Amino acid sequence: MRNLILGASGQIGTEIHRILSKNGEDVVATSLSGSSKRKIGALDITEFSSVEKIIAEYKPDIVFNAAAFTMADQAESPDGIRQALLINAAAGTFLAKCCARRCVKLVHFSSSYVFDGRLDRPYCEKDHPNPISVYGSSKLAGDIGVLNASDRHLLIRTCGVYGQAAIERGNGSFVEAILRKIESGIDFGVITTQKSNLAYAADVAEAVIDLAKGGGGIVNFANSGCATWFDFASWIRKEIGSGAYPFQIGHYNSAAARPCNGELDLSRAAIVAPHQLRPWQDALADYLANRKRA
Ligand SMILES: NC(=O)c1ccc[n+]([C@@H]2O[C@H](COP(=O)([O-])OP(=O)(O)OC[C@H]3O[C@@H](n4cnc5c(N)ncnc54)[C@H](OP(=O)(O)O)[C@@H]3O)[C@@H](O)[C@H]2O)c1
Repeated sequence: MRNLILGASGQIGTEIHRILSKNGEDVVATSLSGSSKRKIGALDITEFSSVEKIIAEYKPDIVFNAAAFTMADQAESPDGIRQALLINAAAGTFLAKCCARRCVKLVHFSSSYVFDGRLDRPYCEKDHPNPISVYGSSKLAGDIGVLNASDRHLLIRTCGVYGQAAIERGNGSFVEAILRKIESGIDFGVITTQKSNLAYAADVAEAVIDLAKGGGGIVNFANSGCATWFDFASWIRKEIGSGAYPFQIGHYNSAAARPCNGELDLSRAAIVAPHQLRPWQDALADYLANRKRA
């Protein structure tokens, strides 16, 4: 199997690259900047001719698209709107069509931010999206492009991703932001009004590589269980044995609106995925024990 990874320096892409390489698979890994040290080539997915060229020349069996504009707050600025739409919507759609034309399977990642968060139950794959941010709208436009291009394409919706690459890239994750703040000892507020799943990038990558061998369509994927951001922060503080308790219930004034209910219904994954993701507490404990500082 020939595997092309886009966004191979990101949280999920790094783990897909690591697992496929460890398994001795034929892999070409790319990201926007590239990294010769990590054997990642430079490829801008918004340069459509370069995308077409690499697919024509490498002839992958499968493309993992973990490349995205993921900065939800920055996506609200005029330049952010342009970039989010170009990278998440236009490039995702072009890639999906390009793969479909050449009978290449695409595995594309999306977000719970395509929903407005007003439902009083977890969101399943068939629920109607209604994004409340530019980032969510750009991801939804990409999702539509991917699903319209081919029934074989697999669309993974996830949320609350954290992984080692965020430390190396310096762009953080919720988990790293909380760790930094706890260590600094400076008071901060964490919200109780939004809940979500968490997704450990290494767990998602491993399961998605297996799932990619099956059919297409949308599958929600995250570690099992759900909590508010305040509960996650409290759990992290306890797990690292910090005596400090610098945070209280607070507000998060962000440029992008976020769904209050970001919980994904994981029951389809339980049916179609070869193995299930462990509870978020187990995954997070593993990450905290093994994370390496940059
Ligand atoms: N982070 C979350 O909490 C979260 C939640 C739900 C869903 N998701 C989705 O999951 C997927 C992976 O997210 P992540 O957190 O792993 O991403 P990430 O860590 O932010 O990494 C983004 C990746 O995209 C690459 N990239 C950005 N612009 C590009 C361009 N124009 N051309 C080529 N590559 C480009 C980056 O390359 P460089 O390093 O070279 O810049 C990097 O490899 C995305 O689809 C995201 O929307 C993420």
